[in-house]
Amino acid sequence: MTPQYLFPLFFFLIFFFHSRTISAQSPAAAPAPSGTNVTAVLEKAGQYTTFIKLLKSTKTADQINTQLSTSNQGITIFAPTDNAFASLKPGTLNSISEQQKLQLIQFHILPTFYSTSQFQTATNPLHTQAGNSDDGEFPLNVTTSGNQVNITTGVNTASVANTVFTDNQLAVYQVDQVLLPLSIFGTPAPAPAPAAPKTSVKGSDSPTAGSGSSDKDSTGDTSAAMGKHLTIKAVSLGVATLAAFLL
Ligand SMILES: *[C@@H]1O[C@H](CO)[C@@H](O)[C@H](O)[C@H]1NC(C)=O
Ligand SMILES: *[C@@H]1O[C@H](CO)[C@@H](O)[C@H](O)[C@H]1NC(C)=O
Ligand SMILES: *[C@@H]1O[C@H](CO)[C@@H](O)[C@H](O)[C@H]1NC(C)=O
Repeated sequence: MTPQYLFPLFFFLIFFFHSRTISAQSPAAAPAPSGTNVTAVLEKAGQYTTFIKLLKSTKTADQINTQLSTSNQGITIFAPTDNAFASLKPGTLNSISEQQKLQLIQFHILPTFYSTSQFQTATNPLHTQAGNSDDGEFPLNVTTSGNQVNITTGVNTASVANTVFTDNQLAVYQVDQVLLPLSIFGTPAPAPAPAAPKTSVKGSDSPTAGSGSSDKDSTGDTSAAMGKHLTIKAVSLGVATLAAFLL
């Protein structure tokens, strides 16, 4: 093994043992809920190691377990498989902040229990743990056709492949894509290149004071122009009358 492989491995081992320490400590911090343990559900299902790691590192797993044991509103989780995480553009998770990682995970969690049939009558956009969906920052829409359930975020579309777990409190659905929130992964509309010189020319033509006054006096401008027009008319009328008089 060459040194450039040893370096990342070193960090991986640190992370690995660190996260194991955290998960070993967490049961002591939170009282064992009577409800379902979401981590245990996902571990049993297999193929969710990345999602579980993120649930733990963002402390979202503890939050969900607490919610399940204290509230009867229920929870719905869209769990992306390890394959879904692997198919992300390389470096996607490393390119976002810890806060955004938390939001990304919370975006996969709905603070309400939804059965697959309830998705058919759900009102879009759905409310996620990541924030108010009404503000347009974290919209998540569900579309159904027969038994097929799709989730659209405005960035990508995922399909519900499978029900991993369901009782009347917790629903865990396997999704084939990581749900990418618009506010984190939405590409800002690129400014068209030809527009830039146009505005700068306009800017150099009329300084701020000029553009301000033109905004304010737009009606004055029109009446001034109208006055000018009337003057020209009056002058030409006068010239015509003078010409007629002279002839
Ligand atoms: C939940 O399950 C995980 C994995 O099985 C375990 O490590 C953890 O201690 C459990 N948490 C609680 C609060 O029971
Ligand atoms: C769900 O998405 C798949 C793949 O993008 C598409 O073929 C299918 O028609 C979609 N179904 C619904 C109900 O939107
Ligand atoms: C989600 O649904 C709402 C309401 O139907 C719609 O206005 C919005 O454009 C949809 N967004 C996406 C990303 O599909």
